[in-house]
Amino acid sequence: MTFLITAGPTREPIDPVRYISNRSSGKMGYAIAEAALDAGHDVILISGPVNLAPPHNAKIISVSTSDEMFGAVHQHADSADICVLCAAVADYKPARVSRLKIKKSADETSIELIPTRDILHSLGHKPARKFLLVGFAAETDHLEANATKKLREKNCDIIVVNDARIAMETDENELLILFRDGETKKISRAPKKILARELVKIFANSQQKSLTKKM
Ligand code: CTP
Repeated sequence: MTFLITAGPTREPIDPVRYISNRSSGKMGYAIAEAALDAGHDVILISGPVNLAPPHNAKIISVSTSDEMFGAVHQHADSADICVLCAAVADYKPARVSRLKIKKSADETSIELIPTRDILHSLGHKPARKFLLVGFAAETDHLEANATKKLREKNCDIIVVNDARIAMETDENELLILFRDGETKKISRAPKKILARELVKIFANSQQKSLTKKM
């Protein structure tokens, strides 16, 4: 099977030297890419800026902004059997990007922000999609309720929920997996590399099941 995986943060420029971003390390997405390759799958890894060595044998597409990630995902999604959107895409970007460095002044200032496009939502509502669609949800509270809402609104097949207070910038994670049919699965705290192996098996099985159903 071919996995398309997004990983890491995006950077939304303010001016040539400044940007808005977040603390995502990309470790979970890269671990899923490694695990999928180890299991014999092909991997297209669309990555925001991270400090990680790219996995051998993956097709790597490096992007910076949410718009670049949106474009790369849409260009490659139909060649994938499973799309796993693990990236921490910025939810907002500056309404205007200054061509020149913004100078300091003694006054208060503010930056007008506009929403970015939601890549997961756009894939979920893509007409006649054939790939299995997996989203991630980073939550700090009401994990199951918030993630169930995301699964429905973004129309994905699986949502993997992690507690944002544990997951960011660490090597460990604890996961709750929600399936479209209402089934749930918990995986207790473990290194991201171990969790990734488990996730790849779960995603491949779900894709196999949905193919069997369609036959
Ligand atoms: N996502 C995306 N494009 C965006 C924002 C998020 O594809 N512009 C995807 C992420 O890759 C992830 C999922 O949506 O798979 C959920 O991301 P999360 O940040 O938890 O949720 P949001 O929809 O951004 O909602 P909120 O931040 O309000 O919890």
